[in-house]
Amino acid sequence: MRPGLKPPVILKLGGSVVTFKDRVETPNLQAIRRLSLEIAEAKPRSLLLVHGGGSFGHPHAQAYGLTGGFKGGSLQLSGVSRTREAMLRLNSLIVENLNLAGVPALGLQTSALAATRSGRISSLDLKPILGVLRLGGVPVLFGDVVMDFEDGFSILSGDRLSTELALRLRSRLLILGVDVDGVFTGDPKTDSEAKLVERLRVRGKAFKTFLAGVKSSKTVDVTGGMRHKVLEVARFASKGGRVLVVNALKPGVVAEALRGRKVRGTILTA
Ligand code: IPE
Repeated sequence: MRPGLKPPVILKLGGSVVTFKDRVETPNLQAIRRLSLEIAEAKPRSLLLVHGGGSFGHPHAQAYGLTGGFKGGSLQLSGVSRTREAMLRLNSLIVENLNLAGVPALGLQTSALAATRSGRISSLDLKPILGVLRLGGVPVLFGDVVMDFEDGFSILSGDRLSTELALRLRSRLLILGVDVDGVFTGDPKTDSEAKLVERLRVRGKAFKTFLAGVKSSKTVDVTGGMRHKVLEVARFASKGGRVLVVNALKPGVVAEALRGRKVRGTILTA
């Protein structure tokens, strides 16, 4: 991070927000447009956006058996290409709508900047990202299939990418916009007893007990649902960052969170 450049707020919009997860390659245009306007109105001084795959990423990745990396054969490789092409289509759509709303967004292809080793990010070129931020632009990256030095390729989730970017860019705040009100003690979509956890301290025993109880989502999600999400962002929270998990499908919530106002959701801290 260069001196003089304000660390960006990182906003990750989940695939269940920007797409309809149960219909292949179906964007939630209404949500994308509304969120673009909310971001334009909130005008954060420095912002980096990451979006998930939803029905543009997961169904292709699953159909071509991309989890677990390269097993040989050209079919899997064309699956990598198809997944990435779909992600690029979603990225273009989001970037286009952000610009229409007045947000100076620039799409950056994650797989051109990042590579992993056994699924962990081992190289990440920050220069193009910093270049956009320095100009006052909003870089828009996404969960992607990237080259992996051990497994050939791997699916890099938007949550893992956002966490890594938050750490490397020394951000103070990472907002995860999801399709529920935050982190719950169970699955709020199926369990009426599930309670919203307003504050989670990621260090210590209570967190481990909590994790043991968090269920993963039932929809097609090759990168693991809420449990994966909480585990990933905990790396940032444990180092002093602040993570907010909020419902991006509820109008106004993301705008308020970007303005630093208190909203319903989960706050994760050290
Ligand atoms: C997954 O990204 C990307 C691919 C499957 C290629 P994410 O894991 O961040 O997507 P969501 O938010 O869960 O849909």
